[in-house]
Amino acid sequence: MARLTPMIRQYLEIKSRYRDAIVFFRMGDFYEMFFEDAEKASKVLDITLTSRGNIDGEKIPMCGVPYHSYLGYVSKLIKSGYKVAICEQIGDPKGGGEIVEREVVRVVTPGSFIERGEIESSDDIYLCCIVRGDALYGLSFIDISTAEFKVTEIPVSDQLLAEVRKIRPSEILLYERDEELKDIFYEFNVEILERPPLLESESIKILKDQFEVNSLYGFGCEKFKTGIVAAATIVEYLKETQKSSLPHIRGLRPYSLGEYLIIDDTSIRNLELFSTIRRGSKKDTLFDVLNETITPMGSRLLKRWLRYPLVDLKSIRERHEAVFYLKEDLILREKVREALKGIHDMERINARICLRRANPRDLVALKDSIGFVPEIKDLLIDSNSPPLNSLAQQMDELQDIKDLIENAIVQDPPSHTRDGGYIREGYDSRLDELISISRDGKRWISQLLEKEQKRTGIQNLKIGYNKVFGYYIEVTKANLHLIPKDYIRKQTLVGAERFITEELKRYEERVLGAEDEKIRLEQEIFESIIDRVLSENKRIKETADIIAQIDVLCCLSEVAEQNNYTCPGIDENMDIVIEEGRHPVIEKRMVDEEFIPNDIVINDKDQKILIITGPNMAGKSTILRQAALIVIMAQMGSFVPAKSAKIGIVDRIFTRIGASDDISLGQSTFMVEMTETANILRNSTPRSLVILDEIGRGTSTYDGVSIAWAVAEALHDKDGEGVRVLFATHYHELTELAQLRPKIKNFHVKVTEWKDRIIFLRKLAEGATSRSYGIQVARLAGIPDEVIERAKEILSSLEKAQMDELGRPYMARSKMRKRQELSQLSLFGGRDSELKKWIRSLKIETMTPLNALLELNKLKQYVESH
Ligand SMILES: Nc1ncnc2c1ncn2[C@@H]1O[C@H](COP(=O)(O)OP(=O)(O)O)[C@@H](O)[C@H]1O
Ligand SMILES: [Mg+2]
Repeated sequence: MARLTPMIRQYLEIKSRYRDAIVFFRMGDFYEMFFEDAEKASKVLDITLTSRGNIDGEKIPMCGVPYHSYLGYVSKLIKSGYKVAICEQIGDPKGGGEIVEREVVRVVTPGSFIERGEIESSDDIYLCCIVRGDALYGLSFIDISTAEFKVTEIPVSDQLLAEVRKIRPSEILLYERDEELKDIFYEFNVEILERPPLLESESIKILKDQFEVNSLYGFGCEKFKTGIVAAATIVEYLKETQKSSLPHIRGLRPYSLGEYLIIDDTSIRNLELFSTIRRGSKKDTLFDVLNETITPMGSRLLKRWLRYPLVDLKSIRERHEAVFYLKEDLILREKVREALKGIHDMERINARICLRRANPRDLVALKDSIGFVPEIKDLLIDSNSPPLNSLAQQMDELQDIKDLIENAIVQDPPSHTRDGGYIREGYDSRLDELISISRDGKRWISQLLEKEQKRTGIQNLKIGYNKVFGYYIEVTKANLHLIPKDYIRKQTLVGAERFITEELKRYEERVLGAEDEKIRLEQEIFESIIDRVLSENKRIKETADIIAQIDVLCCLSEVAEQNNYTCPGIDENMDIVIEEGRHPVIEKRMVDEEFIPNDIVINDKDQKILIITGPNMAGKSTILRQAALIVIMAQMGSFVPAKSAKIGIVDRIFTRIGASDDISLGQSTFMVEMTETANILRNSTPRSLVILDEIGRGTSTYDGVSIAWAVAEALHDKDGEGVRVLFATHYHELTELAQLRPKIKNFHVKVTEWKDRIIFLRKLAEGATSRSYGIQVARLAGIPDEVIERAKEILSSLEKAQMDELGRPYMARSKMRKRQELSQLSLFGGRDSELKKWIRSLKIETMTPLNALLELNKLKQYVESH
């Protein structure tokens, strides 16, 4: 066994309990890292790797960071995928060679790193847990900085992945047993828990204890049996890593995917809700256009509303009603928004208080924020809008908390507690005494200075203080002959000497003692204030939630007014009728030109699927996206960029944007395209809205056109009702579908020519485009006349070839259909029913693949022989 110093032995003992984290080992003013931790961290943090002592002659690698700025380093490590265990010295150094006790006080993980300044105030930081159940997955996630805590269950793994992608957790917890899920979530930070999953009964107990309730019944989450295990796992994990009881986490909200308009992650990207496809920038996105919120809480809530629009008519209409009211009453809105400007991130401050990570400035920010609450409440309580009224009714003015902080903490405190100076005079008499000692001390020092200068006749005699030597009297070399006998030499500098006197020493003991005592006492008072605020955290959280809602409602009415949006009608029928609709983002980007509005009408009768053709750059994609964005805006409670809009509620939005339109992703696009199309065919319902922009582009023309055609047919026929689809395509062949299916209708985006130039009219009109357009463009581009003429000839013969012998479009021919027609004729013949009987009798569940093939072959022979 190697000989180890006690300190290294202590380190190794602690490290053995936190093997998967980088241990920040507090030593005085530094956090030190050793061994492999030091090697890894020095690289990531770009700091010098040194060494300290050795084991059997081999040096122990070490590196360190100063404790007062450690958060930046922690943040860097977290971003590089590490966890950090913060190990502090507890208790005072014992002296006599014994080492100070140390303990890990917190493990910082990606899903729990919520320090101010290190994260963006508009971002949610989610920690998520997934547990595999019998036939479904339990999913739970939390933002510990806001205590938003949700649970659901999802039956299939691709839906699960879609939902998780939407949440974008910073960290996912999986049980070892479910480790195979790790592959599905390879793009995330996954933490494997090396223990069996909690039992349902244990989970219920953990959650009941956490929320301090007797039953979970009130939360309505009892049906999510596996979900509850995921939620309880999160609570346990947080308790272990945060070493705190997390008092602000007080409830769990169950949800199901059906409560919201589902926009999967692909569509969130395609529609550029939060970042643009090409640059990934936050500018020029729908969120950017809509975000006129004032508080960080509001901005986060707006994000949530946009990501999870509603499907419940009543709730959507309530939001519209509040937005309408605030839009009309400009003065009210201005006043409320003015007051909101005084409100800080109460939600996160509250969370920091609960985790005991708040500093004096946090408390003052909370107090200042609370100061604006009564004003907002008064403004809204008189309004005639029931939704706003009820929000105001629920607002708690938190006066007691404001008073408490106001009386205890100075208005402009330091951001940390180590030097004291933040507790107000008059709050605590013991503290007042100590303050006066140290204040009197200052006066005493200046009197002493005067006295000593007079006594010695040394004009430039100074009295100073430093940490090592304490108080001293400084005399320059030139004046040394003047010093009195009672001066005791302490230190020699280049041009001066430092002395102390008995008097100064006595004084020092008294003052420094008082100063230490004062810092300790302030700390104690601070903790007691934190305790008291913490015990009211639920009220703070509720008020912060309401403030966020008011902020978002004001924001939506502000945006509606600025951009001339109208209130959409929402109902339960299948129509989507948009009159003079505009693209909310592109219209803002246009400076010289006007954005041309368009009518888009989808109904259940004769235009459920709109095939939209038109040359490149005509504006097809814009029309598709604007329709989807208007639906999302309407259902999140916003007004919409249109003259009028009526939306028959949409349950899910699907988008498929063709290969050439998302080259930035650079993956094997055709495969991706087809996987997504398969998803649309499988999961869309008659209530869904499907946006297909140029599908089939990633493959050869014939393949592409055939797939596009078949997909359109399938969507038309789906569930006997069909799905609402906007289908932009450059395959003119597809326009023939309109002749064959009653609910498919053709549209095109108009263009015209003027003096060698193509003019884009940007207007959507009924009917298909003329096919000669490409050749006209070729002529405009200067292709010689004879080549153009020859191209026309070829085109016309190709067109003829696309009709079958009966003059029907070539594409319309279908073996399946012929067969159907025939079999309908033979309905009374015996063959049909015999076939049915045969097929029904097949026991597919028990068949081997080989048997299935043989059976299929028999069927084929039968059909062919009759
Ligand atoms: N309604 C409109 N009014 C004004 N400009 C438009 C309109 N629609 C599209 N544009 C402009 O035309 C460009 C191309 O539109 P896009 O929809 O991508 O065409 P397509 O999909 O037909 O190739 C857009 O980037 C936009 O700048
Ligand atoms: Mg396009």
